[in-house]
Amino acid sequence: MDFSIKAFDTKNTLGAAKSGCIAVAVFENKKLSEAAKTLDLNGAITAAVKSGDISGKPGSTLLLRGVAGVTAARVLLVGMGADDAISEKSFAGAVTATLKAFTSLGAQDAIIAFPLENVKGRDLNWAVNSIVIAANETEFRSDAQKSKKDPAITGVRKLALAVPVATPQLKAVLAQATAIANGMNLTKELGNLSPNVCTPTYLANTARKLAEDYGFDIEVLDRKQLEALKMGSFLSVTRGSEEPPKFIVLRHNGAKPKDAPTVLVGKGITFDTGGISLKPGPGMDEMKYDMCGAGSVLGTFRAIGEMNIRLNVIGIVAACENMPSGRATKPGDIVTAMNGTTIEILNTDAEGRLVLADALTYAERFKPAAVVDIATLTGACIVALGHHNSGLFTRHDDVHDALATELQDAGTQTGDTAWRLPIGEQYNEQLKSNFADLANIGSPGGASCTAAAFLENFTRNYTWAHLDIAGTAWKSGAAKGATGRPVPLLTTFLMNRVGAGRV
Ligand code: BES
Ligand code: MN
Ligand code: ZN
Repeated sequence: MDFSIKAFDTKNTLGAAKSGCIAVAVFENKKLSEAAKTLDLNGAITAAVKSGDISGKPGSTLLLRGVAGVTAARVLLVGMGADDAISEKSFAGAVTATLKAFTSLGAQDAIIAFPLENVKGRDLNWAVNSIVIAANETEFRSDAQKSKKDPAITGVRKLALAVPVATPQLKAVLAQATAIANGMNLTKELGNLSPNVCTPTYLANTARKLAEDYGFDIEVLDRKQLEALKMGSFLSVTRGSEEPPKFIVLRHNGAKPKDAPTVLVGKGITFDTGGISLKPGPGMDEMKYDMCGAGSVLGTFRAIGEMNIRLNVIGIVAACENMPSGRATKPGDIVTAMNGTTIEILNTDAEGRLVLADALTYAERFKPAAVVDIATLTGACIVALGHHNSGLFTRHDDVHDALATELQDAGTQTGDTAWRLPIGEQYNEQLKSNFADLANIGSPGGASCTAAAFLENFTRNYTWAHLDIAGTAWKSGAAKGATGRPVPLLTTFLMNRVGAGRV
């Protein structure tokens, strides 16, 4: 969809706008929004609201054609809730209903003229951002591997957002929102691709293409180089697979060379069978989504490349498959990680932490300002938080509390929320091994926390946070598909860091 911002500052300009459809808000108390009033020249809108043809509840819509004095062919009345102090939930419901109505219109272009600055606790920037992301969502099709493409959505292709003044700042917000939406699309496409197509090599080629498109530096390390680096933990996961592992390093040089980079590290298991600790059959196909951390790093790079943000950012993707075979790692095997830590692998299905351990050690060489890893790490995170929040883990000190707040705020700003969970000495105790420095699973209880505590062992030389996206990266069931999360959180976090403008 093509988005624009248009100023409609006098009463007549909205009525005179050439458009297939103008969407305006009405309320349950039968009041009209300012924009609705300007289009209500002969009282048709007032009459529709009074008649009860539209309740004003969020989700209710009513299409009027040929409204006297209005140039646009159609006016879509949209319920926006109780009154003009709009709740976030009412706004979201109204936007969803509007976009749904747009899909079945004959019109090619439309204007949304909502009271965007009247959402309680939010600002105009937030409203613009949330409409763009929601509209992008309605358009997304996962038909990349279908021989016949899903039918194109008929209806609106060009969407203008009516604002009082189209400031350069608002246009920048629109550009940022579009970049986030495009980044999310890449993350979704990669997640949804079948695991025989989206292999570690495919992720490396995608990263190479991004580097070409946006001028990132790129390095892809192969098995030999990983052996030379002594990444025994990462390599233990890839042993059972015929697909070569890839360790991808992308670098966006947006600031001065001496400025410490922010590093994103993504878990890129392109298929997780569990290895010798084999997973049960039903639903195992969904373990193609076990590369969604990696996908979110690549999606975020697309977004920051498009915006060319003034920050040094490094993206690391540790990609391989977790397969059983005669050569695969066995429960009980002890391996040595890149930093010298020995690990007793008690369960080969706890593989994400093994690839991340070495990727997090590798990140040290960049003398990072902060490192954030993103991983579909534990099923237990879904038990704890459901599908609403990503799990957020950091050490518990002032520096890390500040990083946690930055990430949580970025999530709240974009509706891509994270919830903080604990790590600490007690969880480390659960990871003791009789034969090695660490076991790769904890004693029973708190599996998301022990997984994060395991990672913490490899991050002691810098400021670090971990996002467990097991519950937020994709949806199961009839609506099965990747969500594009946490690209909005990560991109906003980076933008906030540079002060490139709030979304
Ligand atoms: N990729 C899975 C985590 C996962 C499972 C995410 C289901 C989303 C849905 C991870 O590699 C894994 O298998 N974790 C194990 C850890 C356990 C062996 C300690 C888990 O969560 O069961
Ligand atoms: Mn696993
Ligand atoms: Zn996994």
